[in-house]
Amino acid sequence: MKVRTVDQLDLSGKRALIRVDFNVPLDKAGNITDDTRIKAVLPTIRLSLEMGAKTILLSHMGRPKGKVVQGLSLSPVAKRLSSLLGKDVSFVPDCVGETVEKAVASMQPGDVLLLENVRFHPGEEKNDETFGKQLAALCDVYVNDAFATAHRGHSSNVAVTRFVGEKGAGLLMKNEIAYFEKALVSPARPLVAVFGGAKISGKIDAINNVLGKVDKILIGGAMANTFFAAQGYELGNSLYEAEMVETAEKVLANAAGHRVKFYLPVDVVVADRLESPTASKIVPAQEIPPGWTAGDVGPATSLLFKAALQDAMTIVWNGPLGAFEIGTFANGTYSIMRALAESKAITIVGGGDTDTALHKAGLFSRMSYVSTGGGAFLELLEGKRLPGIVALEEG
Ligand code: 3PG
Repeated sequence: MKVRTVDQLDLSGKRALIRVDFNVPLDKAGNITDDTRIKAVLPTIRLSLEMGAKTILLSHMGRPKGKVVQGLSLSPVAKRLSSLLGKDVSFVPDCVGETVEKAVASMQPGDVLLLENVRFHPGEEKNDETFGKQLAALCDVYVNDAFATAHRGHSSNVAVTRFVGEKGAGLLMKNEIAYFEKALVSPARPLVAVFGGAKISGKIDAINNVLGKVDKILIGGAMANTFFAAQGYELGNSLYEAEMVETAEKVLANAAGHRVKFYLPVDVVVADRLESPTASKIVPAQEIPPGWTAGDVGPATSLLFKAALQDAMTIVWNGPLGAFEIGTFANGTYSIMRALAESKAITIVGGGDTDTALHKAGLFSRMSYVSTGGGAFLELLEGKRLPGIVALEEG
């Protein structure tokens, strides 16, 4: 089935409703602390403006659960977007209803209007048809550029598509899909997947799905501890998921069955405690002392992982290799990020924490592609079809 993209649609003089993901982090004072997701949809907005559309932007922010929560208003985003675009962006304090209809009716080609948080309405997360119809009534053409929300089946990305005349994917969505396909559908080989993060339970479906596709898998983060437990190692006070030990055993057996080269850390950085540690040391993974907590992969593992990445032509990474927010445990993640930055491979990175670590390491721009999706990227790795993308298919 075919998904048209915004560059194949005629937006000239039309009301274009563009679903974006402006779910950006805010500090306590309501300032945007990372505008990556806003910048990521600028190409689609600019294209819409060049085509002479009346550009109406729709997004969610946070999880207000169908109620108005002032701290989750998108109004700060309108200001930031306006300065990034270098033009006025109007803002209306709702996304459906009379005020919005009036604001849309008074738009001229080239105008940009940002609607208020779509999740202030209970219909949104219920994928309510009536609410979808109300949203659709605002536009002639619907464009979805909210890749990071594509794993949700909500009114603003699914129900709405049933009532619009024309629909298509934005340029960010197009890019995200293209890079994902480069990574897992027709990759240059060897293809290496790097998985980190705290919990194996959140990544197990992705790991199982890629087992049959990748040449090598590298595992780090607290997730590795569950694999250590599966091998009978002592873990001291390290985090692990007791109920996932059997699953980890199966993954190891499956990896062997698929002839995937499976790399676990050979050493770890342990400390007296995870938060504000006062003492730390490096020990073999088999020798975590009682009372100590593993927080990062050790230097021998960094060397091992770098060697395993040496011949890679495609690398996909999701999840940090240690508690990088704490200085004692940052080296593992950063040293492998540097290896990716220097690699000849196509490097595709996704996931909120991995993204934050890349920014902290100053290596964001050195990756071939950094996905704007956390959950959406992971669900693609799990082999799922995302409702927001399926809803754009025609034919
Ligand atoms: C995200 O930040 O992953 C997306 O904006 C989706 O948000 P959600 O997990 O609240 O649906």
